[in-house]
Amino acid sequence: MQQDKVLILDFGSQYTQLIARRVRELNIYCEIHPYNHPPKNQSEFKAVILSGSPNSVRGENVLHPDLSEIRGKKPMLAVCYGAQYLAHFSGGKVAPSNTREYGRANLSFIKSDETFFENISEGSQVWMSHSDTIKELPTNAKLLASTKDVENAAYTIDGETTFAIQFHPEVYHSKDGKQLLENFLVKIAGVAQTWTPDSFVDSTVASIKEKVGNDKVVLGLSGGVDSTVAAVLLNKAIGKNLYCIFVNNGLLRKDEFKNVLAQYEGMGLNVKGVDASKRFLKALKGVTDPEQKRKAIGNAFIEVFDDEAHQIKDVTWLAQGTIYPDVIESVSVNGGPSATIKSHHNVGGLPDFMKLKIVEPLRMIFKDEVRRVGASMGIDPELLGRHPFPGPGLGIRILGDITAEKVRILQEVDAIFINGLKEDGLYNSVWQAGAMLLPVNSVGVMGDERTYEKVVALRAVESTDGMTADWVNLPYEFLQKTSNKIINNVKGVNRVVYDISSKPPATIEWE
Ligand code: XMP
Repeated sequence: MQQDKVLILDFGSQYTQLIARRVRELNIYCEIHPYNHPPKNQSEFKAVILSGSPNSVRGENVLHPDLSEIRGKKPMLAVCYGAQYLAHFSGGKVAPSNTREYGRANLSFIKSDETFFENISEGSQVWMSHSDTIKELPTNAKLLASTKDVENAAYTIDGETTFAIQFHPEVYHSKDGKQLLENFLVKIAGVAQTWTPDSFVDSTVASIKEKVGNDKVVLGLSGGVDSTVAAVLLNKAIGKNLYCIFVNNGLLRKDEFKNVLAQYEGMGLNVKGVDASKRFLKALKGVTDPEQKRKAIGNAFIEVFDDEAHQIKDVTWLAQGTIYPDVIESVSVNGGPSATIKSHHNVGGLPDFMKLKIVEPLRMIFKDEVRRVGASMGIDPELLGRHPFPGPGLGIRILGDITAEKVRILQEVDAIFINGLKEDGLYNSVWQAGAMLLPVNSVGVMGDERTYEKVVALRAVESTDGMTADWVNLPYEFLQKTSNKIINNVKGVNRVVYDISSKPPATIEWE
C-alpha cells in the first residue's frame, strides 16, 4: 500500500524536528527537506508545511523557497517564518514587533466555524516565538484568528487550501497544536493516517528485499536499540544473508557480551561474537587523553570489523543503524547535503577500502519510533528500554589510563548500581546512568586497617536527547544502600560519590 506523505520544508527553525514528531504522532508519514534542497518528487507529497526560521523576511539574506509546484496546487500550512514569508511576498506587510512576542498567548477566533479550528476552543493557549509581525495580510487573505498582541495570528488564502499561522503548533505548550495539525492534514488535506509500526515493518522489509536481493549484508551489532532493530528488520527481509558481527571491546558492562550475544542468537540472528578485548586493551595501553582514547577504540573497532567482514565471502552491503535525527543533521539548511556524520557515530568512520554499499533501514524514523517498531516485531522490552551506552563504553568512564583491573572494578560497581536501579523500580525513570572510576585514591578505614583506594562517582540523568540533562534526585535510601554494597563488595573501592551536576555545563560522561 502506498503511504500518503507530507513534506516539511525546513527554514532552519529549532522546532522543525518537532513538527515532524507531531505529524508522525498522528500516524502520518512525513519528511523534512531543506528549503534550498527540496525533493525532486514533490508531486508525491499530499500536503506541505513550511517551518519557522531564525531569519527575517526583511533582512538581506531572505530564504526564498521555490513554491511554484506547491502554492495553490496542494494544501499548504505556513508556520511562523512561513506565514511571514507568504505575507511579505504576496502583497502584505511584515515589520518588527512593538512588543516582545515570545511564549504564551491565547487565540480568539474571527471565523470560528472554520474546519481549521475544529475542536479547538476560544482562548486556546498557543506558543509564540518571533520578533517580526505581520502588519498587513497578503492579497486575498482572510483573517482567522488573533491574540492580544498579534492581530494576524492565523489566516487563509481565498481559493487555495493555504493556511498560515504565526504561532508554533508543534511545541507542547501550544495546547491544541496537535489537533490543529490534524485538522489541517486529515480534514483539509485528506491525508490518510496509515503510518504505523506494522506498516513501516511491511514496507521496509519489502524495500530491503527489492534493494538487496540475494546479496550479502554485514552489520555491526552494538547491543543498543538501533542496531538491534535494524538487524531484526534485515533478518526478516533477507534471513541468513545478513551477517551480524558483535565485537567485545572489553569495555562493555559486566557479562554484557555473553548475555547479549545469547539474546541475539535466541532471536534467530546470524551473529558472530568476536572477543577482541585484548586487542583493544593493547591499543589503549598508556593512553590517557579522552579524544585519543576514542580514536584508539574507534580504530581498533574498524580493524576488527574489517578483518571479520573480509571473512564473509562476496559481501557487498554494509547495514547501519542510522536514525532520522542523524540524517536531518547531515542535510540541514546550514550543513548542506555533504555535512558529515558526527564523530560520536561508532561506525561512521569506516574506511573507504571496504567499498560496500550502504543500507540504513531506520534512516527515516525517530528514536521512539525505533522502539515502537522493535516492540511490534516482538523484541524484548528490556532490550528496547536499555539506557544509551557510549560506543567507547567504560573506556571513557575510567578517567586516565585503562587497565584490565580498572575495567574489572568499574564493571562490578556499574553492575551493582544498574541492577539496584532495576530492583528498586528506578531504572525506567532515569534516561542514562553509570559509574565513573576516578584517577585518585582516598584514605579510608576498614576494620582497624587504613586503606588507600579508589573513588567512584555515580551519575544518573534525566534527558530527552542527551543534548541537555539534569541529575536525578535518587532517593537517599537508595544511594545509601548502593554505596554500602559497592564498598563492601568491590575490592579496591573505599569511597562513593554522587554527581549532582547538570548539562550544561557538565557533560553526561566525565570524559
Ligand atoms: P556527553 O558526555 O557528551 O554525552 O554529555 C551525550 C550522550 O552521548 C554519549 N556519548 C557517546 N556516544 N560515542 C558514543 O557513541 C562517544 O564517544 C560518546 N561520548 C558520549 C553519552 O553516553 C550520552 O548518551
